[in-house]
Amino acid sequence: MKPLSYRVGAARIPVFIGDSDSPLKNQLRLAPKAAVVVDKNVAALYKNLFEDIGSADGAVTAVLDATEENKSMEKAEELLSFFLEKNIGRDSVLFAIGGGITGDLAGFVASVLQRGIGYCHVPTTLLAMVDSSVGGKVGVNHKVGKNMIGAFHQPNAIIMDTRFLETLPKQELICGMGEIVKYAVLRGEVFFDFLEKNHTRLLNKDKKTLERIVRMSVETKKRYVEKDTREAGVRAHLNLGHTIGHAVEAATNYTKFKHGEAVLIGLVAEAHIAMHMKLLRPSSFERILKMVRQIARQANEKVPLDDALGRLKYDKKVKAGKVRFVLPTGIGRVVIRDDVSMKNVVDAMKFVASDGLISLS
Ligand SMILES: NC(=O)c1ccc[n+]([C@@H]2O[C@H](COP(=O)([O-])OP(=O)(O)OC[C@H]3O[C@@H](n4cnc5c(N)ncnc54)[C@H](O)[C@@H]3O)[C@@H](O)[C@H]2O)c1
Repeated sequence: MKPLSYRVGAARIPVFIGDSDSPLKNQLRLAPKAAVVVDKNVAALYKNLFEDIGSADGAVTAVLDATEENKSMEKAEELLSFFLEKNIGRDSVLFAIGGGITGDLAGFVASVLQRGIGYCHVPTTLLAMVDSSVGGKVGVNHKVGKNMIGAFHQPNAIIMDTRFLETLPKQELICGMGEIVKYAVLRGEVFFDFLEKNHTRLLNKDKKTLERIVRMSVETKKRYVEKDTREAGVRAHLNLGHTIGHAVEAATNYTKFKHGEAVLIGLVAEAHIAMHMKLLRPSSFERILKMVRQIARQANEKVPLDDALGRLKYDKKVKAGKVRFVLPTGIGRVVIRDDVSMKNVVDAMKFVASDGLISLS
């Protein structure tokens, strides 16, 4: 696998994308001592892989039930105790093998264990490959909100073995697609056009298409991470689709929509807002809408409108009391605006409901 890489300060983080065992084996060989946190579903599906890791000298493995409830301080503390008692220390490398939950939690553990040890992320979901594993954001949830406690801790390496995606359920694949459509809108014509022509191949898990799209997505995220490592400026563009998306997720108590599904809804709603503010041409809106229609499921899930509107105020993108929206102004262009009227938001929500992506209550 020829690695892509992204730079953060003096560090260059290699990202291996492909279908070979060697990058993981090499990283294991390089680690004086390996600590492993592995998603329990992945461990069950890929027994052979774990026999290999188990045979690595002195490797210590913790199996994780990857739920949002377990992405917590309590679970982090449990893992810290487990690893400290097994003498995992400064010279060890922690391998996180699983989706975004495993990566966020294990990365957080690595960031605080003896003030930070090396870690290596092996993302096994499409979302974790294209999004959560890249950029160094690690953390856990708190009862006040999701991802409220965390750190920036860059991995030593990220190893994306697309063979893991063979066992990924369709809904999880769609989840990753939400972020991929977002990247395509951000990146521009070449990516968007490729996705328009190849989304069916992607949904059918065509190996070459998956690898190409993962690479294009990582290249897109890399541009933002390198320019704005600690999310103080332009990295905010990655929140495209997320202002409305988060409101929909939160108003349905995170039980009706997977995150990426909510992002797809958010993308259409925010493009609708942009069109009605005369920032986006109707033809570009239609392209985004058509793409989302082909990927998202038609959901009759009820979203309480007033609750969703109320949630916007608590979004992390609120600044000085104003809700900040990232709005598309074309394929490959966005703008940040804090003057979106409530009427525009309501109209956009009504539109996504009329299109069958949600139903309103
Ligand atoms: N750190 C960041 O920058 C960042 C960015 C986006 C999302 N996130 C976080 O990522 C999390 C969501 O990640 P996710 O969507 O990967 O979810 P996840 O980790 O919950 O994985 C989804 C499901 O897929 C299963 N799974 C994983 N790999 C599999 C495989 N190869 N085959 C079959 N099943 C498999 C898991 O067991 C789980 O049931 C959220 O907690 C979110 O907050 C973090």
